[in-house]
Amino acid sequence: MLFQNACIENDRCLKDIRIQDGKFKTIAAGLKPEAGEEAIDLGGKLVLPPFVESHVHLDACLTAGDPCWNMSGTLFEGIECWGKRKDKLNAQDIRDRVRRCVKLYAAHGCQFIRTHVDVTDPNLTAMKTILDMKDELADLAEIQVVAFPQDGILSFPNGRDLMKEAVKMGADVVGAIPHYEFTREYSVESLNFAMKLAADNDRLVDVHCDEIDDEASRGLETLACRALEMGMYDKVTASHTTAMHSYNNAYVLKLMRLLKLSRINFVSNPLVNIHLGGRADTYPMRRGVTRIRELTENGLNVSFGNDDIFDPWYPMGNGNMRDVVYQGLNISHMMGYEDICGGYKFVTENAAKTLHITDHYGVQEGKPANMIVLDAPDYYDALNNDSALLYSVRAGKVIVRGHAAKTEVLV
Ligand code: FE2
Repeated sequence: MLFQNACIENDRCLKDIRIQDGKFKTIAAGLKPEAGEEAIDLGGKLVLPPFVESHVHLDACLTAGDPCWNMSGTLFEGIECWGKRKDKLNAQDIRDRVRRCVKLYAAHGCQFIRTHVDVTDPNLTAMKTILDMKDELADLAEIQVVAFPQDGILSFPNGRDLMKEAVKMGADVVGAIPHYEFTREYSVESLNFAMKLAADNDRLVDVHCDEIDDEASRGLETLACRALEMGMYDKVTASHTTAMHSYNNAYVLKLMRLLKLSRINFVSNPLVNIHLGGRADTYPMRRGVTRIRELTENGLNVSFGNDDIFDPWYPMGNGNMRDVVYQGLNISHMMGYEDICGGYKFVTENAAKTLHITDHYGVQEGKPANMIVLDAPDYYDALNNDSALLYSVRAGKVIVRGHAAKTEVLV
């Protein structure tokens, strides 16, 4: 199969992309179709590597309002609503919702998903079910599973054992939630536990870290320090870090040195963070989003995620990665021309680094032929117009075919 005249990642020098045996065989200008080869002229449309969702909770997706709506819109009422919904969890319910949600992502060009899965369930129903689904979903997306202790590791009965069991079952990534533990001592100990569990089992780490508007929430320094001391570096990710929004600048100046030494990744969830953040404030009201621009300018890897798709924490979401980029750039004062053109990297290249999938990710010769085509000449246009997905190609096969949206002004 040959895709002709592709604008690959904003490159105005159009290229042709030959796909053979599920891989990118040749990427060059002036390729001509071979005998019997299917050719599609993209006419200069934008080609990107597929979108990567670096932070979502598939086990909770598509449950908003069931059995109750989060009326206050706070994180903590969300956790309460989820506590009630958890009673109704069963394998079929999870399978149906996860499949529907992965299809929503696929329809928007997302082919890689890191999902946190709640393991504060003595039966580990969601963990078992989603691990079982990885193979059957592989045609649509590669799923990476985090053992996520929603109610804490030390603050939940048998929390440590449930984490160990989830890793034994096959969780790819070890999570933690230090700001939700009962005490600061538990917070530090939970991070020490999670890091050791990951190191002992050769797993990645992704922590819900300081997801709170409490300037005294300092899980991040502990996590970064362990990542440095244990040589785990970029195997470690700090998700959310919303408290960093409220840290004083003198502390951040000192902290930044450690963060750079630690080389850990950051995931921000701009939509959910601004929705849940600042809830205890009057005015001025904090945005509750981590220091995306500062981290980026200091050379740290930052990606964006949806976090929640129509669930107790966020009542919207359809798997469109454009929305998190659009909001993330706005919220973090990154609306310069170059920032906008390169905004897709927060949900492609940067997220791929976080997931440690760069060995098989990217529109490059020899790699698996995974790519998307958007109905735009460049990402600036695609972001501004929420351009339609024209193709999503996975392992050399077109898995999604879209069409340009058409609206006519009649006067
Ligand atoms: Fe989350």
